[in-house]
Amino acid sequence: MATKEPIRLGSKAQGFVADSSKGEIDFEKFAADSWVVLFSHPQDFTPVCTTELGAFAKLEPEFTKRGVKLLGLSADSTKSHEGWIKDIAEVTGGQVNFPIIADYDRKVANLYDMIDYQDPTNIDHDELPLTIRSVFFIDPKFKIRTIISYPASTGRNASEVLRVIDSLQASDKYKIATPVDWLPGQDVIVANSVKDPQAKELFPDFRTIKHYLRYTTLPQEA
Ligand code: BEZ
Repeated sequence: MATKEPIRLGSKAQGFVADSSKGEIDFEKFAADSWVVLFSHPQDFTPVCTTELGAFAKLEPEFTKRGVKLLGLSADSTKSHEGWIKDIAEVTGGQVNFPIIADYDRKVANLYDMIDYQDPTNIDHDELPLTIRSVFFIDPKFKIRTIISYPASTGRNASEVLRVIDSLQASDKYKIATPVDWLPGQDVIVANSVKDPQAKELFPDFRTIKHYLRYTTLPQEA
């Protein structure tokens, strides 16, 4: 029997067609040449999910500036999503303009291994498991670049999701890595693969703290 490939950093993001709050989505057409943040919520009209969706809705313009499309997922119908989106706006002031997949059959949740296997209370009215809070960062070549998994009981940090995008995009553009708690505009670390002679060419002002820890400043983006 063929075993399913595990989803890892570097795996190809699997395509799918699904209903959503913005009509049918063909994932590959939706993504086109953009980055996509695909993130699951257990269920509509639940408290933590409502606060998360409001936060992502408010940050959406920042994702758009970075060429990133948001794509939510919850195991309820499009009709339910429509009502919930109104509630989210009322409660948080965030207007959800990105699509939320209506994954009532868990098709996408199964494809991306989002099903909750550890919280017996995270189930729907038919006692079917809902999803955990997964986040998949998918680059324009459909490669999965980062995966974050939170349990249903822990709301995510929307700013952290944006920070990961900033780190991924900066390390794609320059031979660098980003240190703990890094934010755009702060110093970055020269990649270990870059030896000092090349570092002098790429980052003339780099500073050596230890031979394995060299900081530099990136040009400020417009
Ligand atoms: C919530 O969003 O509050 C939630 C949803 C499912 C399980 C637990 C919490």
